[in-house]
Amino acid sequence: MKTIRETKSLRAELSGFAQDGESVALVPTMGSLHQGHMELARLASEYAERVVVSVFVNPTQFGPQEDFENYPRTFDTDRRRLSRAGVDVMFAPTHDEIYPFGAERMTRVSVPGLSLMLCGERRPGHFDGVTSVVNRLFNIVRPEVAVFGQKDYQQLVIIRRMVQDLHMPIKILASPTQREKSGLALSSRNRYLTTDERDRAVELYATVCACRDQYLAGERDPATLEKTGFERLSRAGFEPDYLTIRKSGDLSLPDDDSSFLVVLAAAQLGKARLIDNVMFEMPG
Ligand code: PAJ
Repeated sequence: MKTIRETKSLRAELSGFAQDGESVALVPTMGSLHQGHMELARLASEYAERVVVSVFVNPTQFGPQEDFENYPRTFDTDRRRLSRAGVDVMFAPTHDEIYPFGAERMTRVSVPGLSLMLCGERRPGHFDGVTSVVNRLFNIVRPEVAVFGQKDYQQLVIIRRMVQDLHMPIKILASPTQREKSGLALSSRNRYLTTDERDRAVELYATVCACRDQYLAGERDPATLEKTGFERLSRAGFEPDYLTIRKSGDLSLPDDDSSFLVVLAAAQLGKARLIDNVMFEMPG
């Protein structure tokens, strides 16, 4: 595996692949890799001959009160892990490679409707930071395929919309959420949890699934669904942020004949803000 920090060197490597007629898949990450990320890389390798995993803790998607400084950085472990998994290139650019004119003056890409709701409401500017950096990574790597996790469901929907809206010739693949046996979704932020909080964190996925089951059993009132879920989360020690059922395609509120749905939730537990979701299809 090659570890590359400069865009210029990456372009040279990529043109070698292109000369050999090899397709490229990109997996954007912020490092601190776990099995969820590795599954993205595995899926990528099924769709392209070469896999590039980018590792860049993107400052523009963190709010001023958020954990950018403390975000876990495990470069050497990440590199070993990617190399063992048969990834071709680890692209770990410096800040200046990504934002040559500075992050404050960066050209922004924004998906206004989708990025203001749910997590976007609580984290102003977060998704603009995500789309602005992913757009740069797409332009640098120019992959045929890019892989994202269902774990960050709203992010996935926003990226899909950006790609469609800007006519980007990139196929976006979604990889299912990887979980611990308990049901807790793997996340770099789980390391902020104490042992006791970790035990209680499983309640987030349990609550999301219970909300789906309640909906399937005929409960349609968003306020009732939210209330039941919030009570369960509060009992487990969470401060719930939102719990809602949306259409899985565009995150709008479902109507009676919507078939493809997703329950999404976010809640604070100790120092960690956790998110989770479950997709489901209405029978019939
Ligand atoms: P990061 O949180 O490192 O996640 C990188 C990718 O891994 C995302 O597509 C995310 O959805 C996926 N992922 C994380 N945990 C997962 C899990 N348990 N199962 C499956 N997939 C999982 O998301 C970001 O970084 C950034 O916003 C980024 C897209 C890299 C832009 O900076």
